[in-house]
Amino acid sequence: MLMLGCDHGGYELKKEIIKYLDENKIEYKDFGCNGEAVDYPVIAKKVCNEMKKDGSDKAILICGTGIGISMAANKIKGIRAANCADCFSAKYTRLHNDANVLCMGGRTVGPGLGVMMADIFLNTGFEGGRHLRRISMLEDE
Ligand code: RB5
Repeated sequence: MLMLGCDHGGYELKKEIIKYLDENKIEYKDFGCNGEAVDYPVIAKKVCNEMKKDGSDKAILICGTGIGISMAANKIKGIRAANCADCFSAKYTRLHNDANVLCMGGRTVGPGLGVMMADIFLNTGFEGGRHLRRISMLEDE
């Protein structure tokens, strides 16, 4: 199941993403926030750890810029979080990086673009092949 989380900077965009998920009958678990001020590392950890525990393969995280929450997510082993602000990146981070977390900025990305990127992220597969070798190198100490 898709995991979802945001801080206060990402709340408005998360509501748009939820609308899209509901309309498309895509199941998700939302880990907050609900508009109140929260610390993005707390949300990123909660979502990514739950994602690993649950065996789910994807999450969407949103903060003001997408930067802080992607930094926090990428600290967690096995997480490949990509902060995207364009559709090409949203597509290629699935094809080439097998990104499992899409990060976006609620203050930098409009609702139309945000929903479009989420749709691309959720519907694009990993290409594998030579990219498998490269992403496995990301796990090297
Ligand atoms: C919160 O005001 C803001 O700093 C946060 O949402 C994010 O942009 C951090 O990277």
